[in-house]
Amino acid sequence: MKDTLSRPVMEVRDLTVRFPSLDGTEEVRAVDGVSFEIRAGETFGVIGESGSGKSTVGRTLVGLLEPSSGTLKFDGQDRASMSKRDWRVARRAYQMIFQDPNAALNPRMTILDSLIEPMKIAGGRSAAEMRDTALAALEKVGLRRDMAQRYPHEMSGGQKQRVNIARVLPLDPKLVVCDEVVAALDVSIRGEILNLFKELQADMGLAYAFIAHDISVVAQISDRIAVTYLGQFVELGPTEGIIEAPLHPYTIALLSAEPQPLPAHLRHRRRMVLEGDIPSPVNPPSGCRFHTRCPWATERCAGEEPAWRELRPDHRVACHHATPEGLPPLPDRGAGQISE
Ligand SMILES: Nc1ncnc2c1ncn2[C@@H]1O[C@H](COP(=O)(O)OP(=O)(O)O)[C@@H](O)[C@H]1O
Ligand SMILES: [Mg+2]
Repeated sequence: MKDTLSRPVMEVRDLTVRFPSLDGTEEVRAVDGVSFEIRAGETFGVIGESGSGKSTVGRTLVGLLEPSSGTLKFDGQDRASMSKRDWRVARRAYQMIFQDPNAALNPRMTILDSLIEPMKIAGGRSAAEMRDTALAALEKVGLRRDMAQRYPHEMSGGQKQRVNIARVLPLDPKLVVCDEVVAALDVSIRGEILNLFKELQADMGLAYAFIAHDISVVAQISDRIAVTYLGQFVELGPTEGIIEAPLHPYTIALLSAEPQPLPAHLRHRRRMVLEGDIPSPVNPPSGCRFHTRCPWATERCAGEEPAWRELRPDHRVACHHATPEGLPPLPDRGAGQISE
């Protein structure tokens, strides 16, 4: 189903999203100039520390947030030039599933009513059709039809997350944004839910934007991975290239911090301890935003923002020091932080 030749389901150019800071005097640059596309039927992974702007990107992709600047093309159509009516129809194919399995379920509604609700809003189906479609969707996500009569509190977290997946299927989505969708689930059932996502994708050809802070989760499911840092992408490439031969120091740091060791063939030899906290997105560092935490940083990194370069096929990075072979050996001063 992976189709790199057809039109992307989503094209994002120079996206920025800014929020007023708590006291209203400054701006939080939550997303600060990212460009990418999501291809039909692919899983586009997004990783990065908490606060790096992942959820903000995700919410923008489904129209829950408006960009401060930049363009978004939904299935080739520029959001800015769509009529209200066209937008209402177009955005239906762009759905989101959240970390909290309860987020989209009304505790006072049966599972059946929760499944029917999005179809009601979309319109165009009779009551009987909506009921049949809801029950079929329930089966599709591996739940029994009789569970439709239950209330959310009568189900486990994993079952509720299956219901949340079932809710979006009748809308025939082109893209489903999955924001930390397994983070709240027991480790033992994460694999099952990830497999369900894969099966549905193979079956329906839908694309995912799969957001998580946990690299091993993203690596299991993604075709490509974008690495975010302080509202920007620092690296974007095929999963194998990102995991086995990362080009950006921050990606190496994230891979080193992985608590559950990656499978041996995915493990990287270089280990690096990420020191210090993520700087504030109100006043991000000059030049390369990662230079304050980077063992490779030189004067140039503090002064000049690195270009977004395609160093390997379909693999881009924003780092002055990266080469197609990776990063050069570290200068002596950083030797304490890294082992090879
Ligand atoms: N509605 C909001 N108002 C103000 N600041 C926000 C809002 N949403 C997110 N932010 C800020 O934007 C930055 C990015 O947040 P977020 O996209 O949630 O990151 P992530 O999902 O990677 O943890 C953070 O500094 C966060 O505090
Ligand atoms: Mg988030």
